[in-house]
Amino acid sequence: MSTNNPLYVALDFPRKEQVLQFLETNGLKKVPVKVGMELFYREGPSIIEDLKKRNHPVFLDLKLHDIPATVKRAMTSLASLEVDIVNLHAQGGSAMMQAAAEGLDIGSANKKPLLLAVTQLTSTDDMMLSNELLINGKSMEEAVIHYAVLSKNNGVDGVVCSVKEVPALRKACGKDFIALTPGIRQSDAEHHDQKRVATPEAAGEAGSDCIVVGRNITQSSDPFAAYKKMKEEFLNGVRKNSTPTA
Ligand code: C5P
Repeated sequence: MSTNNPLYVALDFPRKEQVLQFLETNGLKKVPVKVGMELFYREGPSIIEDLKKRNHPVFLDLKLHDIPATVKRAMTSLASLEVDIVNLHAQGGSAMMQAAAEGLDIGSANKKPLLLAVTQLTSTDDMMLSNELLINGKSMEEAVIHYAVLSKNNGVDGVVCSVKEVPALRKACGKDFIALTPGIRQSDAEHHDQKRVATPEAAGEAGSDCIVVGRNITQSSDPFAAYKKMKEEFLNGVRKNSTPTA
């Protein structure tokens, strides 16, 4: 990925004022950020404009999942925001993913966002896979890799998955297919609702191109120090991953 292994800070706050104050008071100038449903549903496109004016690379995490025609028009509309990354659920299927890619082509005047597909949320585990989603007889890794290959064959640039699946993803989809991994925690931190978690260093070592960190930074007593530390650990892992072993 051409973006130097960014760490996206998940801005999971309800209001624009809180976001801007959080970034300002903690000196998080120009850091890559992720805007999710909570913030975008309340504030709309104006929050994206505000963040872009402050030179933050933006991942707009709305996880689209609907019929192909609707997703195509929604992506056409999102493309006009000129963010860096948008996403959808791979479970919407091949026609929906192709429609999304077409929508982005139509709506992008200057800059076209990367399109990522969510495979299995990092808050799901093997029990949920078989008991609730009825994906029986398949491991989490098999399910994730199946969705990743489907995404790659249908106009998607990469996937959102857990760190645990990245090595298998690399084998199945090659080194240029983007792996963005949430579910990142410092080794001693609480997991909250996340199930498939890993440290920033493990993410880099496994081959993640970029990571997303929310509560470990936003709820830290020193968000700037937490950002710096986690980014450094991630890059350390990336270096280990790219250093050939004897
Ligand atoms: O606080 P935490 O680091 O768990 O936040 C992770 C962020 O990444 C949340 O905003 C969540 O919506 C998002 N995310 C995720 N799993 C995915 C895709 C996005 O946790 N598969």
